[in-house]
Amino acid sequence: CRIAALASGRGSNLQALLDAIDGGSLAAQVVGVFSDRSKAAALQRARDAGIPARSLSPKAFASRAAFDAALFDAIDEVQPDLIVCAGYMRLISGGAVDARRGRIINIHPSLLPAFKGLHTHQQALDAGVAEHGASVHFVTPDLDGGPVIAQARVPVLPGDDADTLAARVLEREHPLLVETVRWLAAGRIALAEDAVQVDGVAG
Ligand code: GRF
Repeated sequence: CRIAALASGRGSNLQALLDAIDGGSLAAQVVGVFSDRSKAAALQRARDAGIPARSLSPKAFASRAAFDAALFDAIDEVQPDLIVCAGYMRLISGGAVDARRGRIINIHPSLLPAFKGLHTHQQALDAGVAEHGASVHFVTPDLDGGPVIAQARVPVLPGDDADTLAARVLEREHPLLVETVRWLAAGRIALAEDAVQVDGVAG
């Protein structure tokens, strides 16, 4: 499975994929890493691993659609089977998503459908929930609204702030993303009409 990764920042989820591949527990290749921020640490992680890394500045384009057209042209060049948004903080335009239906996934730090968008850990604290976590879902034009593939749950503990909660969730994000990509790479999961299909069975 050829993977293209999109990342805007630190890139610890990308690193989890690279480490799993390196350690032989994930049969895949990361063939390109792309960012909307030239300073993203994720780009350096890719270069350190000998993977082509590219950033495009949204400011250089007249519209979101124009930026996404250029970005996804560059992504298409590396011929990925799967596109993984790993801490990619920009909305992707509907046209770019529709053209790659079922081939783009995202990791989001909440138990979707709860707490879409930004500041999810603070949202969870403000809502007073006892459990929080992360979700991997297929990307559709609906922001953080595509079918959920897998989730990891953590407790919200007394005294938590957004940082302690984020750290607890992040620890679970890494294995969650690796495991989900493993299933996708093995062809065990697909996006059916409007739901996730596991081993040929709608779930
Ligand atoms: C993660 O919490 C991810 O779920 C969210 O942004 C964070 C990115 O972390 N969308 P990293 O760049 O993978 O370290």
